[in-house]
Order: sequence, then C-alpha cells, then structure tokens
Amino acid sequence: MIAKTTGWILGGLCAIMLAGVEGGVAQVEETGGIPPELVAEYIHAVIQADRSIYSTHVVEQLQGRKVTVAAEDWKERGALPLPAQMLQMAGQEVEGLGLGLRIRLTSLGPIYTKNGPADQFERVGLEAVAKNPRKPYTGVMTEGDRRYFKAIFADRAVSMACVMCHNSHPLSVKRDYKLYDVIGAIIISFPIR
Ligand code: HEC
Repeated sequence: MIAKTTGWILGGLCAIMLAGVEGGVAQVEETGGIPPELVAEYIHAVIQADRSIYSTHVVEQLQGRKVTVAAEDWKERGALPLPAQMLQMAGQEVEGLGLGLRIRLTSLGPIYTKNGPADQFERVGLEAVAKNPRKPYTGVMTEGDRRYFKAIFADRAVSMACVMCHNSHPLSVKRDYKLYDVIGAIIISFPIR
C-alpha cells in the first residue's frame, strides 16, 4: 500500500515535470489529473519543511548565542530575516513568476494588520484551522473569468524562537503562545481550470 502510494506520488510529480517538455521522448502516463487538494499539500509540505528548518536549525541555533541574529530590520542590522519575512519574500518571488501561484502568511491577531484575513473566506478558514490544525481549509474562488483553488494551512509555533518573539513583540496582541500553538496560517492559492 505504501509502495503503491509512493509510486503514485512520484508518478504524479514526473508527469508535472514532463508535461512542460514539448515532443519529449518519454511517455507520460495518464494520471487522470492531480486533485488541487493534493497539489496544495505538495506545495505546503515544501514550504513547511523550509520554514521549520530555517527556524529551528538557523534562527534558534544562533539565537542561543545571545546575539540578535534574526531581526525585523535585518537589512540595517546585517542580521538574518525573520521566518515570516523569509516566507513573504519567497511569496513575492513566486508571484513574480507569473504562474498565478500565491503564498501568504496571515493571522486573526496579526502583528501587522496587513497580515490579517483578506476576506470572509480567509477569516472562516483561519478560525477553522485554529480549531483543527491538522485539516487544511480549502475552497474555489472566482476572480473575473479565472478560478482559483485556495488552501489555508495552520501555521504553528514549531520552535521556541516563534514563541519567544511573538510573545515579546511590542505590537503582539497575544503574549501567551506555547510551543506548537497555532499562530496563524499559510495561505496557498493557484489557478485551476
Ligand atoms: C524574532 C522574531 C520572530 C520570530 C522568531 C518569528 N516571528 Fe512570526 N512574525 C514576526 C514579525 C515581526 C512578523 C510581522 C512581519 C511582517 O509582516 O513584516 C511576524 C509575522 C508572523 C505571522 C503573520 C501574522 C502576523 O503576526 O503579522 C505568522 C503567522 C507568524 N509570524 C508565525 C511565526 C512562526 C510559526 C514562527 C516560527 C516558525 C515565527 N513566526 C517566528 C516576528 C517573529
């Protein structure tokens, strides 16, 4: 069962990669289309892995040396960007590719209001993942004549660096976060047919 599932996932990824090769010699197996829920899971898995590793093995590791290594004004201070800023910068890069793929970091009680929910769907989704962090909240949006799949994944305090900084930031509205609490959500959206 596991081998079969893994094979199917790898097959799906190969199909995505090969789909762009015009006249390629390799035969692409018919996958019947990958459901958008699964595409969002793949994208989220990569973002989440990068985010945990950056936070735990870079920021937290160095923060222990009593030097401010990651700071909001990292450019001026010659420090490292915050995990949130890493994600926001990556989101801008991705948006610049023109694929219609968007990645945002939000919260119901954000440090900055720009990071609050953009609409009712996001508000409801943020509430849903705060209650049930294991299950992403998903739906299909329409913008003009285009349809977008949107998935909201809980963003949890995966390291003590998240907890300490969010509990002590001057603009934080909540100051009692614990390890693994839901701080907000990662919102991923991309066009579908
Ligand atoms: C050293 C401080 C610091 C650390 C460490 C940190 N954050 Fe943040 N976080 C911030 C700041 C400041 C912002 C606002 C950044 C902006 O929008 O420019 C933010 C933004 C966010 C947001 C968007 C909502 C908001 O509050 O504006 C979420 C969700 C979030 N962080 C979760 C996390 C998680 C999860 C971690 C650990 C993986 C983490 N943060 C680590 C300071 C920190």
